[in-house]
Amino acid sequence: MNPGLESLKPYPFERLAELRANVSAASHLSPINMSIGEPKHPTPQFIHDALIDALDGTGKYPPTRGGPELRSAIADWLTARFRLPSDGIDPSRQVLPVNGTREALFSIAQCLVDSRASSARVAMPNPFYQIYEGAALLAGASPYFISCPSERDFLPNFDDVPNRIWDECQLVYICTPGNPSGKVMDRTLIAQLIELSDRHDFTIVSDECYSELYLDEDNPPVGLLQVAAELGRADFSRCLVMHSLSKRSNAPGLRSGFVAGDANLLTAYLRYRTYHGCAMSVQVQAASTAAWRDEDHVRENRALYREKFRAVLPILRKYLNIPTPQAGFYLWPELPIDDIEFCRSLISEQNVITLPGRYLARSDETGNPGENRVRIVLNDELDQCVEGAERIAAMLGHRTLGAPKA
Ligand SMILES: Cc1ncc(COP(=O)(O)O)c(C=O)c1O
Repeated sequence: MNPGLESLKPYPFERLAELRANVSAASHLSPINMSIGEPKHPTPQFIHDALIDALDGTGKYPPTRGGPELRSAIADWLTARFRLPSDGIDPSRQVLPVNGTREALFSIAQCLVDSRASSARVAMPNPFYQIYEGAALLAGASPYFISCPSERDFLPNFDDVPNRIWDECQLVYICTPGNPSGKVMDRTLIAQLIELSDRHDFTIVSDECYSELYLDEDNPPVGLLQVAAELGRADFSRCLVMHSLSKRSNAPGLRSGFVAGDANLLTAYLRYRTYHGCAMSVQVQAASTAAWRDEDHVRENRALYREKFRAVLPILRKYLNIPTPQAGFYLWPELPIDDIEFCRSLISEQNVITLPGRYLARSDETGNPGENRVRIVLNDELDQCVEGAERIAAMLGHRTLGAPKA
């Protein structure tokens, strides 16, 4: 067996299931689940229509590299969204469709990491999307966690990483906007990482799957390819981005995303994927092409999330210190009590389920950056989000753990 399997940690939701099994929920109240980052707004009808219209494509194997229509739609989207030069991205060599970014975030490490190196490392933010760590372990590398605590404004401080570690790094994951903080890495920070990647010879994989759920309509998050292009790095060398339709287009069940950037890396990755056997079906390709070509539904989607943040934040801020996220659909408040105790009490007193912050992070010498924080997801209908927030406020109010702030 792959020895990395033994090193895999229980997934946060396994840990949450265990926590829930030991708490009796306040059954007089209907459950409100604010723990799972699954979008719940309906998938737009035109995406379903495109899927259905392509049904007769089942008679052929789809090519692993995807069809030209989808790759062009993605290249056009990237160019418009990230202000790339008009011929800035070659759809035939610099874009590859993937079956959701989860599988791609995992498999890219299997493709790019050389586990024969004496100490192969994969760096990632902490807290982090758990796939990065599993991908590193199963690729035979050691994860290195770059802490993103509140004192660092929830962003990685690359100056904290010793040169020895950078030298060992083969792959560095970043997540911008971040899950769970919703923080966006700015141009300067991304440019610093690009410079480090040249100096220490590693690949940057930027997980940008929340990039379209931004709160300020006039200020979309910057992305890795955008910064690379601004730096004159026309070939995007060492840079790969991952984008997804799951959050942007409310289509998590479609399993559709893409990876784009450095053509040399993508040639190797396509080769890997051909053997791995993970081509995207032609139906999903057709639906994805339609989705990447439309922005109206994405604007509407953002407006719905904005409304939820506007309604929920004042309720929770009576009791909690909550940074306003720049993007995503999560709140990442500081708690007046231990995060596990908070989640337990919330289930037993209010039947509201949230995720303890420490489950999303690992401890290092400075502690666990998720401790005494909780991830609250605003993906339900507005009235459910408001009701959930009111119940959280009620729980904190009853405990009189902190007097309401003025
Ligand atoms: C940070 C982050 N990256 C990637 C994903 C995977 O998304 P998908 O596989 O649906 O594209 C998720 C899903 O929740 C996520 O939170």
